[in-house]
Amino acid sequence: MDPVKLLKKQHREVEALFKRVGKAEGAPERRRLMDEIGAKLTLHTKIEEEIFYPALREVPSKKAEEMVLEAYEEHHVVKLVLAELPTVDPEDEHFEAKMTVLEELVEHHVEEEEDEMFKLADKIDDDELESLGERMAQEAEQAEAAPRNRHAA
Ligand SMILES: [Fe+2]
Ligand SMILES: [Fe+2]
Repeated sequence: MDPVKLLKKQHREVEALFKRVGKAEGAPERRRLMDEIGAKLTLHTKIEEEIFYPALREVPSKKAEEMVLEAYEEHHVVKLVLAELPTVDPEDEHFEAKMTVLEELVEHHVEEEEDEMFKLADKIDDDELESLGERMAQEAEQAEAAPRNRHAA
């Protein structure tokens, strides 16, 4: 499993969800999509921070070091917005603006990852890349299989 492919696939999934939010009719649908975006971004940032970024930081490159540090900070800002989502009313006038800001943050971050950072993964050796990808895929599967307690009584 190529870790970069896995991460890009997750990026595309999140982008598709943002597009659907824009077209969603009705508050329940917007709420559901917002929850889904939150869950996907939480998993994605976790996999990057726990598995991919530390490996990339080992690459002997000043650029890799800088990009990883910046990426952690961008994730931090994304998480601040994610933490607010449960309190956002999908019928409120702030909903659309907040989702747009989150989408733009993610878009900018994804561009930097795909256009610059992920290219540096070439410097990681093939066996290690393979094992990183496996660990990331495993974590993603587990998270997706885990029951979501959000709506539990
Ligand atoms: Fe990221
Ligand atoms: Fe990413």
